[in-house]
Amino acid sequence: MTDDLLLDVQDLRVEFPTLRGTIHALQGVTFGLHRCETLGLAGETGCGKSVTALAILRLVSHPGRISRGKILFEGRDLLAVSEAEMRDLRGSQISMILQEPKMSLNPVIRVGAQVAETLLVHDKTLSRRAAAERAVEMLATLGIPDPRRVARRYPHELSGGMAQRVMIAMMLVTRPKLLIADEPTSALDVTIQAQILELMKALKREIRTALLLITHDLGVMAETCDRVAVMYAGSVVEQGPVRTVLKRPQHPYTQGLLKTIPNDVAPDQPLFSIRGQVPSLLQPSIGCAFAPRCERAMPECAAKVPPQYGLEADHHVACFLHAPGA
Ligand SMILES: Nc1ncnc2c1ncn2[C@@H]1O[C@H](COP(=O)(O)OP(=O)(O)O)[C@@H](O)[C@H]1O
Ligand SMILES: [Mg+2]
Repeated sequence: MTDDLLLDVQDLRVEFPTLRGTIHALQGVTFGLHRCETLGLAGETGCGKSVTALAILRLVSHPGRISRGKILFEGRDLLAVSEAEMRDLRGSQISMILQEPKMSLNPVIRVGAQVAETLLVHDKTLSRRAAAERAVEMLATLGIPDPRRVARRYPHELSGGMAQRVMIAMMLVTRPKLLIADEPTSALDVTIQAQILELMKALKREIRTALLLITHDLGVMAETCDRVAVMYAGSVVEQGPVRTVLKRPQHPYTQGLLKTIPNDVAPDQPLFSIRGQVPSLLQPSIGCAFAPRCERAMPECAAKVPPQYGLEADHHVACFLHAPGA
């Protein structure tokens, strides 16, 4: 991959010790995100999308831990920086939008003040008045009608769609280089979803931020993303330009995932059924995690984990079918 990589995640591993044993939630996640690009992170529930997002921000909850790997942000390893530096990066350079906006807004502070506060935390030279003014401007940019009035409201006085807009305003007001959005619209109804996604696309162009968009909705992905990374059982099995991956998927899992989607799939319906079951994460995979369900599995697939092989034009597939000379 080229050196305009903003985020370069290599062999990321996360474990959660539990009473039943250690859950190997991430088992070597590798992907890259270029500047100003939108990368979709896809895969069924439990495959490790949210844990990947949290790990990038170093917010994996205790006793969970990042056991291995590198997270290079502009070439700097986030796993090696101090907690103080990390706190500084969060919010100013890397922001995250959560699924339930009202959970992340403080219920007892007016929303305008919350957006302003984000600015003040990261820019000590700014006056309160100027921050309040920038907050109102940001609300206006997000298409909020009468932003001055909305700024004076409390979170519970807003609709879900409006609260999500405020949340996005809060995350973008510092102009971060990377915005992570974990299923940002799945708690909203379909028409609002479409509006919010349009808005994020437009804003992304204006602010020139890169976006890591987590969604299980491949329709949203096709509409919004430049590239996609497909995850299965704690690792990335395929990544590449969105059109290539959706039209000519090369990993048997991605192929299964796409084949089983009806054309008019409802946004939160289960997307597919591939024979067999998702593996338990209590044992790290010795071979390809998908091998037990794969119709094209070969003996070596059960014996070792396939690396990502580079195909044409930034398309990578972790499958021995694509090993040179296979
Ligand atoms: N705090 C936790 N403690 C134990 N296991 C966890 C914790 N958070 C996530 N996991 C496990 O890690 C795996 C990946 O979870 P997650 O990233 O939330 O999946 P996704 O977002 O793709 O649906 C799941 O098997 C989940 O049970
Ligand atoms: Mg999740």
